Amino acid sequence: MDLVLFGPPGAGKGTQAKRLVERLAMPQVSTGDLMRAERARGTALGRQFDEFMSQGRLVPDELVLALLADRLSAPDAKNGAIFDGYPRTLPQASALGDLLRKTGRAIAHVVSLEIALPDMIERITQRRSCQVCGQIYHLSYTPPPASGRCRCGGALVQREDDTEEVVRKRYEEYLAKTAPLLGYYRDAGLLRSVEGLGTLDEVTARIGRAIGIAKQ
Ligand code: AP5
Repeated sequence: MDLVLFGPPGAGKGTQAKRLVERLAMPQVSTGDLMRAERARGTALGRQFDEFMSQGRLVPDELVLALLADRLSAPDAKNGAIFDGYPRTLPQASALGDLLRKTGRAIAHVVSLEIALPDMIERITQRRSCQVCGQIYHLSYTPPPASGRCRCGGALVQREDDTEEVVRKRYEEYLAKTAPLLGYYRDAGLLRSVEGLGTLDEVTARIGRAIGIAKQ
């Protein structure tokens, strides 16, 4: 099965994707994480991502597509994936459909997590992520251990694009370039809208019902 977790910045895509990985036995494919890894390695590609990500702008499609195709060719993604933060433009959606078709696959569901801008800002400015295992924390809702480090012992960092100013810019980009995909996937009969506010378990249960893996 191929599943897209869709939504604006801070909707909970990454958090919920991590919760679904074991249950669905599929990897999380986060283009944001792949880009941050390239930047951390200091590669030429990573340097190209820098200027866009730090300003909250979308990275150009051609750079994203190469990254995605490479990730999907890995053995763990051969039977399906949970896409988090991809696709974000109509060309990206079309390219994903083409890539999956080549191996006889198709997107099963697009789950759109719905939250409002004030909640996005609150969540994102309170987010800390582990540099080692990628675990995501919220300083008051799902706080890290008292040591100030991740449960795995790794250092916690705040993403440089997690300021209120950059979140507002990311949301503008979402409205202009990504939100049109809602109509695209609704017309294809794949869109499932899910309330993104609530406890982590409540949101996971809503997603489970939306994709038919939990009781109604
Ligand atoms: P990306 O990394 O994809 O960021 P995003 O889409 O803006 O989403 P976030 O990671 O900020 O939020 P999320 O929905 O995953 O929320 P999370 O679960 O962490 O992209 C970053 C940048 O990379 C883009 O701006 C762009 O430049 C570039 N990029 C990436 N992909 C691209 C693409 N395909 N094309 C072009 N450019 C691309 O949760 C947020 C916080 O809320 C956490 O603290 C969490 O603990 C908390 N939280 C989660 N759920 C709950 C809950 N139910 N209740 C309370 N708190 C909660």
